Amino acid sequence: MALLEIQDVTRRFGDFTAVDKVSLSIRAGEFFTLLGPSGCGKTTLLRMIAGFDVPDGGAILLDGEDLAQRPPEGRPVRTVFQSYALFPHMTVQGNIAFPLKMARTPAADIPAKVEEALADVRLTGFGKRFPHELSGGQRQRVAIARALVTHPTVLLLDEPLAALDAKLREEMQIELINLQKEVGITFIYVTHDQTEALALSHRIAVMNKGRVEQIDEPDRLYGLPRTRFVAEFIGTCNLLTGPVTGSADGVVTVDVPDLGPVRVSAQGAQATRPEGAVAVRPEKVRLHAPGSAPARDNHFTGAVTGFLYQGDVTVYMVRSERGHTLEALLANSGSGLAKFFEVGDAVELSWPADAGHFIDG
Ligand SMILES: Nc1ncnc2c1ncn2[C@@H]1O[C@H](COP(=O)(O)OP(=O)(O)OP(=O)(O)O)[C@@H](O)[C@H]1O
Ligand SMILES: [Mg+2]
Repeated sequence: MALLEIQDVTRRFGDFTAVDKVSLSIRAGEFFTLLGPSGCGKTTLLRMIAGFDVPDGGAILLDGEDLAQRPPEGRPVRTVFQSYALFPHMTVQGNIAFPLKMARTPAADIPAKVEEALADVRLTGFGKRFPHELSGGQRQRVAIARALVTHPTVLLLDEPLAALDAKLREEMQIELINLQKEVGITFIYVTHDQTEALALSHRIAVMNKGRVEQIDEPDRLYGLPRTRFVAEFIGTCNLLTGPVTGSADGVVTVDVPDLGPVRVSAQGAQATRPEGAVAVRPEKVRLHAPGSAPARDNHFTGAVTGFLYQGDVTVYMVRSERGHTLEALLANSGSGLAKFFEVGDAVELSWPADAGHFIDG
């Protein structure tokens, strides 16, 4: 059974609907992420789970119990925010002990619990420091320790790494994965950063304008996006749209203006509407010198209009003969300096039908 059930939850501010009939079911021990652009309702949903805000419709159930009548402090749910929100005049120990004191934990039990929480976030020995004597990453680990010390059933994390620089964020991501495994507490994580969501989560709910567009495991979201929004929001994507002109033997054909007919394996999807889209990731598009492209289901000619050298890979922008621009990504995995093509080079693009993914509508 699901640990947390969110059923048709809606929240309106005036005549604006911030969260629109969202239903989710989150399992015990899961690292679950709400992912979506700024303003899509992630924080609002999290606040309703924590009890800081009240839904206008729907229900939130924890272990089968409707939480509507439970105040925030009565829910086994803790929140870690983007800003550290530590008490600046208290030591690390004092900060972590605070929720234990609020919960009237016997004084004799507190030091051991604080030590355990410090060890969980790898800050043993830092108890006597004050927040201003810590780095940003350490402060956020104290905030996590303070949230974990009362052993909540669910930990809510609202963009907890957003204030950290890229390198530190990556380190903290690995720590969060390990921490969640160790403590076994259900994490509900909010981010608008798709790379972070893919790296951390067991499952992700992609939100757009208050609604959930798709709930799936990271590799399925990336490989089998159900909507155009998901395809474009998760990673980079060549989204080739146009009228559906054929559907036979498990292959759909979409006639893309400025490119031509694109064939794609339906993979169980049905073409039920006159328009459709083919999502092709740049790393699935093959680039060749003219004349050397193997025969594939999709084969176009064009010219390189630009490229972005990124060290490990190079992203090429290619304009097809009829004027559609596609992205192709080549790994720089060979020996020596890698530069396959220059701007202006004539090239051929190709990919098999099963490298793309069909989106109905
Ligand atoms: N108290 C409020 N009163 C009026 N509108 C609000 C209130 N809280 C949130 N909103 C609106 O609801 C929408 C969703 O806000 P929310 O904070 O949930 O977005 P978010 O997905 O967390 O965005 P971000 O990634 O920027 O944090 C926004 O358009 C916001 O302006
Ligand atoms: Mg937010």
